[in-house]
This record gives sequence, C-alpha cells and structure tokens, in this order.
Amino acid sequence: MAYDSENASSICMEGGKQLEGTVRIQGSKNAALPVLAASILIPDTCILKNVPCITDIGCMENLLESTGAVLEKREEAHTLRINAVNIKEYRLPAKYVSAMRSSVVLMGALLGRIGEVLVDYPGGCVIGKRPIDLHLYGLEKLGAQIFTDKNRIHAYADELKGAQISFPFPSVGATQNTILAAVTAYGTTVIKNAAREPEITALCDFLNKAGANIEIGHDFIETGKIVIHGVEISRLHGVTYEIIPDRIVAGTYLFAALAAGGRVALENAPATQLRSVCDLIERMGGRIDSDKENEKNRLLVCVDEPVNIRNVGFVETDVYPAFPTDLQSPLLACACVSKGELVIRERIFSSRFRIVEELVRMGADIEILDEERVRVRGVEQLAGRTVIARELRGGASLVIAGLAASGITTVKDICYIKRGYQDIVGDLKGLGARIEYVYS
Ligand code: EPZ
Repeated sequence: MAYDSENASSICMEGGKQLEGTVRIQGSKNAALPVLAASILIPDTCILKNVPCITDIGCMENLLESTGAVLEKREEAHTLRINAVNIKEYRLPAKYVSAMRSSVVLMGALLGRIGEVLVDYPGGCVIGKRPIDLHLYGLEKLGAQIFTDKNRIHAYADELKGAQISFPFPSVGATQNTILAAVTAYGTTVIKNAAREPEITALCDFLNKAGANIEIGHDFIETGKIVIHGVEISRLHGVTYEIIPDRIVAGTYLFAALAAGGRVALENAPATQLRSVCDLIERMGGRIDSDKENEKNRLLVCVDEPVNIRNVGFVETDVYPAFPTDLQSPLLACACVSKGELVIRERIFSSRFRIVEELVRMGADIEILDEERVRVRGVEQLAGRTVIARELRGGASLVIAGLAASGITTVKDICYIKRGYQDIVGDLKGLGARIEYVYS
C-alpha cells in the first residue's frame, strides 16, 4: 500500500487542538467496489482512476484476478488497469468473500458474463445480519437458477431475460447485483424502488460509458426507477473512468471539524451528495460554505467555538438522500461533546452501536434505549483512553472522539479503518492534528 498505514496497528493522537487547512477527499470505496465488479462484464481493458488505496479494494482486486482478469495496479497514481478479456473461473475464493461482504456483487457480474457463479454466503458482520435475500430475488427474476446449501450459493443461467423487478426495500447491493446481471440479459429490465445512492448512479454511468444501455430519469430520487435494455456482451468495450469522491470520508472529516473546532476546506468533496449532512451540521452550529460558483467541489466548514456546538434532539438514518447510516457513528462521536441531548435512531442496520462502549470508556454519556435508538447527552470533554475499533465507521468515530478529547487517545485494531480510509492520519495531520500511526 502506498501509505504509512500499511504496517500500522494503532493510531495515537493528542486531542484538544483545532483543525485548520485543506484536505483532498479520496475516491469512493462504495463507488469503486461495484465498478471493479462491473469491469469483468467487459471483454476488454478498462482503466480506472482515483481508485482509493484501501484494503477492501485490494480484496476485490484479488477476487477479479481469481476469475481470470489481469490487473495492473499503479497505487501511487490511484490507477488500475483491468483486462477482462478472459474471464473463465466462476468459483470465488472463500477467503476473500468472507473478508468482504460486498464481494457478493460479483454474482451479477459473473452471471452476466459467463452464466455461472459459486460463492460462499457472505458473512454477516458486526453491524448486523446482512442477509442477501433481495440479491437472490433480483437474480432469480432475471432467470438465474439458484441452489443454496448451508454456506454456499451456486447460481447459473443459460440465458438471463429482462424482467420487472420491484424491491420491497431499496437495497444498495441488491440493486447493484441486479443491474450487473441485467446489462447483458435478453430484453428490457425495469427496476422499481431501486437504491438511489450516488454510487448506483455512478455504476450506471460507468456501464453506459462502456456501451451498456441504462436509463435513469431526472426524477430518479423520487421514483427509484431504472430501465436497463440488455445488450450483447460484444457491444461492451473498455473505458477510462474516474471514481467519484467518497461522500462518507468527506462527511467523517466534516464531523471531525465540528468536534475539534477550526476551519477545514474539503477539496474534491461531493457537496451535492452531502446536503442532509451539511444541513444537520449547520443546525448544530457549524458554518458550511460550498464553492459552487467555480464547481471545484469544495466544502468549507467553520467552527469558531466548538463549545457552542449543540445537539438537535433527534436524528434518524435512512436511505439516500436522508442522513446516511455510514455517518451515524461519526455523528454520535461528535454529539458526545455537543451541548444538550440527541436521540439517534438507526433504521438501516440492526446493530450499529457497538462503538458506544468505547465512547463511554472515554467519558461519554450515552444510553442504549433499544436496538434502534441511543440517547447521548453532551459532556464538557472526553478523556483520552486506549480504545478498540470494532468496525470501519465506528473506528473512524473513535478518531473523531480522540481529536476532541483531553490527553492521549490510542485507537487499536485500525485494520477496520484501513478498509475504507486511505490515510486518515495523513489527512488529519495535514489539518494540524497531533496524530500518528503506531507500529507494534
Ligand atoms: C452498502 O451496503 C454499503 N456498502 C454500506 O456501507 C452502506 O451502509 C449500505 O449500502 C447502506 O447505504 C457498500 O457499498 C460496499 P443494503 P449493502 O443492501 O449493500 C438489509 C460502509 O461502511 N438487506 O442497502 O450491504 C441489510 O441487512 C458500508 O462503507 C436485506 O435485508 O447495504 C441492511 O439492514 C457499511 N436483504 C439494509 O438492508 C438484502 O438482500 C441495508 O442493506 C440486502 C440488504
């Protein structure tokens, strides 16, 4: 990996210092993963730019190579060449599938390309059970035969046929899998109540640039309707494509600035995708300016006095464009040192409060009300502690807490953070934080 984080096991920081400066936002993990999966639909070479240098991408690269794709990685340039002319292996290695749940979107790509896939059930994880019933529903509607035993799924399709598919819940992964299988299906597929996340639109943009025929209307956010006209595989061709910026990394740094105070400019930040987050931050007392006029995709957050930041009473997560579940933990960390009370309702995942016990150890006043809700009351200051990251976004929220705490905080097990943050220490150090990787 091209960053100092490669062999680091922990992150150590001294809190109490405001942040000041500019940070460039990395490419989006959740946009890059489905685009990498989509590349094996294309019997040609694709060049992907702004690919984030994170361990989940490394895992997906290994999975692509296991199918027969030939990859050329230039990590320092964040560029990846994928030659998917010879895709022949339908069995996905269990060690990579169990390491990363989102490998499941390779099902749609392999079915669409070679008509067969054998994959272990992707594990649940610390944030919830994470079933894939909606993925299998979409693939079966397109004509895939799916056989499952206790831990494996064998799916195959002599011919995928376009279908009318209406999701009871707009699952991001199930939408991606269905799109990938429908691109080369015979006839037209209409998806209703698809996931509206920007990563879905980006996937369709990539596929259309590669010769697919996918229609997303201007009213997509309202309707969640996607129409996919199937094309021959031979119609698909290589493209050079830039991965969109990571809205969750951008949101993480916005909450870090809110908790620590100061003035932070985010460069290459997807401002239009963060409206719900920016609205909340302004309601909490932060000031946000976005550099729309020259479209540099800059977001500026100013917090003159962190002591004046206040909680707003109630926030709930929901599907896009509502407040995103992936920023629930960063908000929680920030709320710990904001004035007043906040109840957060987590409506997307079944157990995304694992980080509460670590925050409480730092002196936070948090009560878990039930499976969906926590109540946090802001305290004057958190105390630096040695804490443990238990999952990706929870780990990042402990870094936010450490920046706002007094004294030294060490976050251990940062392997989780490295799944999605290219260089959280480098980014925050560039904003003046006293923070280092620890190698032990
Ligand atoms: C994607 O996960 C993201 N991951 C998640 O980001 C994100 O939190 C999530 O979308 C919601 O926005 C990637 O893009 C790689 P879902 P995904 O299918 O596709 C239930 C991060 O931190 N569900 O929309 O797994 C599921 O259990 C990660 O970057 C079913 O019941 O999300 C969950 O409760 C974490 N059956 C809810 O839907 C299904 O078949 C949302 O899941 C599929 C999902």
